[in-house]
Amino acid sequence: MTEGEWFTASAPGKFVILGEHAVVYGKPAVVLAVDRRISCSIRRSYRNSLNGEHIDFNRQPHFRYLTRDTHYAMDYVTNSEIPPGSGLGSSAALSAALAMAIRAERDEPSDEMTLVDEAYGAELFAQGNGSPMDASACVHGGGIAVNVPGTDDRHLWTVSRGNRTWDVSDVNVPDMTFVIGNTGVRAPTGPQVEKVRRFVGRNHFAADVVDEIEAVTLEGHASLERDDTVALGEMMTLDHKLLSILGVSCRELNKLVNASLPYSYGAKLTGSGGGGCMVALTDRPEKVCEAISARGGTPYIVQTGADGVRMEPGPSGDPLMEVPLDYPRV
Ligand code: PMV
Repeated sequence: MTEGEWFTASAPGKFVILGEHAVVYGKPAVVLAVDRRISCSIRRSYRNSLNGEHIDFNRQPHFRYLTRDTHYAMDYVTNSEIPPGSGLGSSAALSAALAMAIRAERDEPSDEMTLVDEAYGAELFAQGNGSPMDASACVHGGGIAVNVPGTDDRHLWTVSRGNRTWDVSDVNVPDMTFVIGNTGVRAPTGPQVEKVRRFVGRNHFAADVVDEIEAVTLEGHASLERDDTVALGEMMTLDHKLLSILGVSCRELNKLVNASLPYSYGAKLTGSGGGGCMVALTDRPEKVCEAISARGGTPYIVQTGADGVRMEPGPSGDPLMEVPLDYPRV
């Protein structure tokens, strides 16, 4: 057979300003999309390949889930600016982009809710637990709030699993500068979520900390809405302390947070923790970058307000000829 036409979609990474872990229990969270993207090109083919090599679907659970109704072989090519396993949403972004490309290839319409359902389904299939917040942020772009009361006028969608429900709404993101610091320590999300689940399940004190994260997140969301950088920064630093009590920080994250604080309004780990990234809210991004580098981290200045998942113009050449040497793992 001859290969089909290429279809390419891309989606942004994200970081959690406030509320990670607590959101798994239906508490509020606020997440912003960032200007680092992952793209996924696909075409019908005579074999299944990922970035030019045989794809083992057992080792690529996101692909396995999202192609469950695809009954023909495909070439898949991915390209990522998002460091994997670092809390920046690389797997949700890949899932959103792949879901959109697959639907385009089948000539099926893609509304945001359907893509969230697909991307969240892939995340659950791959890691077994978690909330739809990453998928929602990577699909919608900009900023999203989850389970924040009083946001009905900006409601986007509601996702339910078992007895938990997440109401997702749009957030107006003011112009703010954030620096992400990557510890370089890879820490998959699933085990961190599980660790917190065990702690919360057997300890009232941990459940109280989750309630405090809720209060801090609501206060921080209100600060974001009124563009109050100082108050938002304070809530971020407080959230980091609460997450540390839950046991999801680590020495490397604490080092980068402490190094950033003298030049920041606030700083905290972002995502599931145990490694991965921290984020600082600052108007002195160069100083924060220096401080992070001096402690062995990798800094990125990120712009917020990124577009959500979108189709990209077809590749000009053959993406298989341009497979990056160090292609992303999710
Ligand atoms: O580390 P990430 O980017 O996968 O973020 C996980 C956020 C958690 O709240 C810890 C889990 C979740 O799915 O909400």
